Amino acid sequence: MEKEINGERLTIPEHIAVILDGNGRWAKKRGMPRNYGHMQGAKTVEQICQDAGDLGVKYMTVYAFSTENWKRSEEEVAGIMNILRQYLKSFKTHIKRNLLTVRVIGDRSKLADDINVLIDELWEMSKDNQGLTLTIALNYGSRDEITRAVRRISAAVQEGNLNPDNIEESVIASYLDTAYMPDPDLLIRTSGEQRLSNYLLWQLAYTEFYFTDVFWPDFTRDDLIDAIRYFNGRERRYGGVRE
Ligand code: IPE
Ligand code: IPE
Ligand code: MG
Repeated sequence: MEKEINGERLTIPEHIAVILDGNGRWAKKRGMPRNYGHMQGAKTVEQICQDAGDLGVKYMTVYAFSTENWKRSEEEVAGIMNILRQYLKSFKTHIKRNLLTVRVIGDRSKLADDINVLIDELWEMSKDNQGLTLTIALNYGSRDEITRAVRRISAAVQEGNLNPDNIEESVIASYLDTAYMPDPDLLIRTSGEQRLSNYLLWQLAYTEFYFTDVFWPDFTRDDLIDAIRYFNGRERRYGGVRE
């Protein structure tokens, strides 16, 4: 889809994946606790989803908590989970206005029961909405996702429901948490870090990567447009051929 933004015609990526990073450093710079950074970071997610939806983006997939993030201090993990609770609750009131659909990927079995209830309620409330699909990656790790998929594929083979000769790439993709959406066109990672940190390893095979030094809580609509402009400057290739 093309869109005119401030007199400039830009192709809008259908799916943007985001590694939101730098909340802790943003807070530290201000002499504040790390969880203050996570709170501001949650507000930024809300704002950027709205902006992305307005620009015509169909899917946003944000990395909110990784399978490795449990290693952080108990205080920080509890703080993040509380912010998540608040965030999911406030989404309930915004969902109608924003026409958002909210989904979660990752291993939900380790999340608190009340958080799982909120996730199910949000999905139920929003599943018929036509706007942007926001996917929140929670207790998500790509290797964990692939491991869980392999387990389910093996069970299907063992039960006689899947012939190993029929395991194509598309079959594997259909067992991943992301089965309902296309692969990301653009990945954004903030805060100057340039690694994947176990995010969407399968799905990012042909994605364009955009890195910025901006800390996530400072990320604005203009930064999003910069990322989209960068995406427009790329010549996408899939094994040597243009799209
Ligand atoms: C990203 O910000 C948010 C989460 C991983 C939950 P960080 O908390 O990683 O912030 P930095 O990288 O320490 O600045
Ligand atoms: C990646 O950020 C995970 C999330 C954004 C949720 P981290 O800050 O945890 O990643 P590393 O440890 O710097 O690779
Ligand atoms: Mg970080």
